[in-house]
Amino acid sequence: GPSLRTLADRAGVRIGTAVDMTALADDRTYRRTTGRDYNSVTAENAMKWESVEPERGVHDWKPADDLVRYARAHGQVVRGHTLVWHSQLPVWLTDGVADGSIGRAELRKILRDHITTEVKRYKGKIQQWDVVNEVFEEDGSLRDSIWLRLLGPSYIADAFRWAHAADPKAKLFLNDYNVEGVNAKSTAYYELAKRLRAEGVPVQGFGIQGHLAIQYGFPGQVAENLARFGALGMQTAFTEVDVRMILPVDETKQATQASYYRRLLDACLGARSCRSFTVWGFTDKYSWVPGVFEGQGSATPMDEAYGRKPAYEALREGL
Ligand code: XIL
Repeated sequence: GPSLRTLADRAGVRIGTAVDMTALADDRTYRRTTGRDYNSVTAENAMKWESVEPERGVHDWKPADDLVRYARAHGQVVRGHTLVWHSQLPVWLTDGVADGSIGRAELRKILRDHITTEVKRYKGKIQQWDVVNEVFEEDGSLRDSIWLRLLGPSYIADAFRWAHAADPKAKLFLNDYNVEGVNAKSTAYYELAKRLRAEGVPVQGFGIQGHLAIQYGFPGQVAENLARFGALGMQTAFTEVDVRMILPVDETKQATQASYYRRLLDACLGARSCRSFTVWGFTDKYSWVPGVFEGQGSATPMDEAYGRKPAYEALREGL
């Protein structure tokens, strides 16, 4: 039957995957599947600050450039991930802040330069940028970070303004996890987006990571959540979908996983605001899950041998 990508093309939607650049270079099956099944790609790590500027003023663009070139050669769009985050920052930056050698004014300039340099480098080649990632806590308060501590909450609006100046055509996104449904955290994003847009700050999208776990159940009010962002005139996207489980795998868990993938996809396609659905890796061979969530895994639509799980067929049927 037709590939995921063919079905997505016919439906006029983006089906994406996070891409592991080492796997893309070394694993032919991985490379072939990325091109066959996906019309959108996101760098799993290659565009993060610690990757692109490992030493102060010393950039390494090679892996990110390679992904952008691969995407162009394969007719895919690119989601840029991510410009401002509390995690995967370069050591020179976190050390500089910790020892006081980088103060408030300098940090603001460093952030502006980082955003401007990276967004300009890929100007015209990135469809959507995750400008700020994971800025709220579960209770809807702003997350503690070097950005909040030194720059105050205005760093968020500044980041969007700087990104927009560097590439006015890229759609600029907020992005976080545990925000699929209506809850305190997604409501904090809703209120933030409403306020920023009223102030004329260029924020155009809300990215829902979609890292689910079957043992926690399926989130409530996903359609309502997408609808309220759509009503603000914003785009929405599922940006990092995976559905993990406590190992070992069995048929019941796989069926539940398939239904969770399908329900997220259905929610996206059922909302006018949502035309982009990205999985955080398509094979368990390279999934981040087992390394981070002890005893859990099997989170992607294909097993370690690229065998299609019920989840893969559920995505096909949903497209
Ligand atoms: C993860 C990657 O998958 C891992 O390879 C890396 O070690 C840590 O980051 N939310 C995000 C992603 O926005 O950038 C994270 O990606 C997963 C959670």
